[in-house]
Amino acid sequence: MLKLGVNIDHVATLREARYKGVTGGAVPEPDPVWAAEIVELAGAHGITCHLREDRRHLQERDLRLLRQTCRTRIDLEMAPTPQMVRIALDVKPEVCCLVPENRQEVTTEGGLDVVGGFKHIAAVVKQLQAGGREVSLFIDPDPRQIQASAKTGAEFIELHTGTFCNATGAAAERELERLIRGAKLAHRLGLRVNAGHGINYQNIHRILLIPHLEELNIGHSIISRAIFAGLSQAVREMLTLMAGYRDRHGGSRGQR
Ligand code: PXP
Repeated sequence: MLKLGVNIDHVATLREARYKGVTGGAVPEPDPVWAAEIVELAGAHGITCHLREDRRHLQERDLRLLRQTCRTRIDLEMAPTPQMVRIALDVKPEVCCLVPENRQEVTTEGGLDVVGGFKHIAAVVKQLQAGGREVSLFIDPDPRQIQASAKTGAEFIELHTGTFCNATGAAAERELERLIRGAKLAHRLGLRVNAGHGINYQNIHRILLIPHLEELNIGHSIISRAIFAGLSQAVREMLTLMAGYRDRHGGSRGQR
């Protein structure tokens, strides 16, 4: 079954827009920890969140409470920094997804450069695995990045679908082809394959053409839909759209 991890950072973004730096008085809302509860009850398979260095949305308090309340699994997106490694080894999310981080960006813009930063990234993968974490690398569907990712020993890659999701016409077809070829290569190299970024209710049927997928991580579109439809309904609608995946590709290799 293709799994859904819902990224709840966007709930924290709304909270921070009103309450950043406010102490005392009103209870800061909306709370991403409550959101995670609703997401799980609606049938999602996991909670995805990103503790950024600038703490612009999720706070350490959120992550620690999520660890206590989450009944599915936590996929923590994190920069490969010593501070984040320390936090991850302490909080113990099931999966650590290494992502590049740039203070100026609105959201994670490109994939991790595993080729350029191989030594450092491979060392971080080993440190996290030694602490019992599974590791995923968020990368563009570039064969060199996929090969380097396999060499780090990481269990997963998460294919960055953002370029495809933002493209139209022939460019979108080319990007989808790259994702399909990338997933096949990763699978041949023994990597488990997730995907995420920019996936929405309109493009999901094209994303389902990518083989060997185990999980999709989706945030913005689900939280946006939740404003009008409610969070449970938004999650259930996405799960319904994802439900045909197993038939087309014969399911994925791993379970977690
Ligand atoms: N996967 C990764 C690694 C991300 O950084 C993000 C954005 O935080 C997502 C998935 C979810 O992207 P979106 O909010 O566009 O669905």
